[in-house]
Amino acid sequence: MTHSSRTGHYVSTATNGRRSRWAAFVAVLVALVAVGGTYALLSASSKASAAPTESATSAQIEEGKNLFLEGCSSCHGLKAEGIDGDTIEAGGNGGPSLIGVGAAAVHFQVSTGRMPLAGPEAQAPQKAPIYNEEETAALAAYIASLAPGPEIPTAEDLKYEGASIAEGGELFRTNCTQCHNFAGRGGALSDGAYAPSLMEASPQVIWEAMATGPQQMPVFSDQTLTPENKKSIIKYVTSLQTASNPGGLDLGSLGPVTEGLFVWIAGLGLIIVVAVWIGAKVR
Ligand code: HEC
Ligand code: HEC
Repeated sequence: MTHSSRTGHYVSTATNGRRSRWAAFVAVLVALVAVGGTYALLSASSKASAAPTESATSAQIEEGKNLFLEGCSSCHGLKAEGIDGDTIEAGGNGGPSLIGVGAAAVHFQVSTGRMPLAGPEAQAPQKAPIYNEEETAALAAYIASLAPGPEIPTAEDLKYEGASIAEGGELFRTNCTQCHNFAGRGGALSDGAYAPSLMEASPQVIWEAMATGPQQMPVFSDQTLTPENKKSIIKYVTSLQTASNPGGLDLGSLGPVTEGLFVWIAGLGLIIVVAVWIGAKVR
C-alpha cells in the first residue's frame, strides 16, 4: 500500500488509477449494502416489536400497575373498576370498568393510540401511541391479571399467510363491509361515530378488534368466526392494503412497500456494479 491510498487521497498515477476505480466500486457497494441492510433491519425490528408478548411475569404486572395508576386510573378507577356517573359525555372523565376486558383490549386501545383518551370526543381517535411496546405489554398484563379476558394473539393465531383469500373476502363482505365499506375505507355510523379505515391496521390489531369489539363493533368470538376464519379475513384485509398502493411508488406508507424498495435498491446496486466493471474493462 502506498502512502497516498492509505490516507484516502487517491492520486491518478498509472498504478493507482485502477486501484482507485476499484476503491470507488467497493465504496459504492459498501454504501448500498449498508442502506439495504439498514432498511431490512428497520423493517424486521418494526415487525418484531408488533410480535405477541410472552406470558406475563410478576415484575411486568407490577410495572403495568404503576403505569396504570399514573396514566389511566383517573378515568378507569384505582382498581380499574371504572368510574360511574361523571361520564365523558357529561364533561367528566368517567371511563368504563376494565375488569375482564382482557389483554387484547388493552393492547388494541393503547397500541393504536386510542388510550389514554385525550378529551371528551364521541369516539377515541387513533393517534400516535404514547406507550412503547414494552409498557403496553405491561399494562395489558396488569389488566389481564385482574380477571381473564381475550388474550393477546399468539404467533400461531396470526399465521395467516396460508389462509384462503377468497374465503376472507366472502367473510369480510358478510361481516365487516356494512360498517367499514367494501374496500375497507371506513364509513360514518350514527351519533357522530365512525368505523375507521382499515388501511393502517396491522394483523394483530385486526385480530384484536375482532376479539374485543371496540365501541359499536360487535365481538366476533371463535364461535362466530373460527380462528381459521379470522386468519382468512386478516389475509383479505392485508391484500386490500397492498392493493391500495399499487406499484410501490407510494413511499409514504411503509409496510409491503419496504420489501419492494429493498429489491429495488439491490437491483440498482447490481446495475451500478456492472457499469463500474464495464467502465474498468473499457479503460
Ligand atoms: C380521560 C379519560 C381516560 C383515560 C386517561 C384513559 N381512558 Fe380508557 N377509556 C375511557 C373511556 C371514556 C372509554 C370508553 C369509550 C371508548 O372506548 O372510546 C375507555 C375505554 C377503554 C378501553 C376499552 C374497554 C372495553 O370495554 O373494551 C380500554 C381497554 C381502556 N380504555 C384502557 C385504558 C388504559 C390502559 C389507559 C391508560 C393508558 C386508559 N384507558 C386511559 C377514558 C379514559
Ligand atoms: C357495526 C359496525 C362494525 C362492524 C360490523 C365491524 N366493525 Fe370494525 N370497527 C367499528 C368501529 C366503530 C370501530 C372503531 C372503534 C373505536 O374507535 O373504539 C372499529 C374498529 C376496527 C378496527 C381498528 C382499526 C384501526 O386501525 O385501529 C379494525 C381492524 C376493525 N374494526 C376490523 C373489523 C373487521 C375485520 C370486521 C368484520 C369481521 C369489523 N371490523 C366489523 C365498527 C364495526
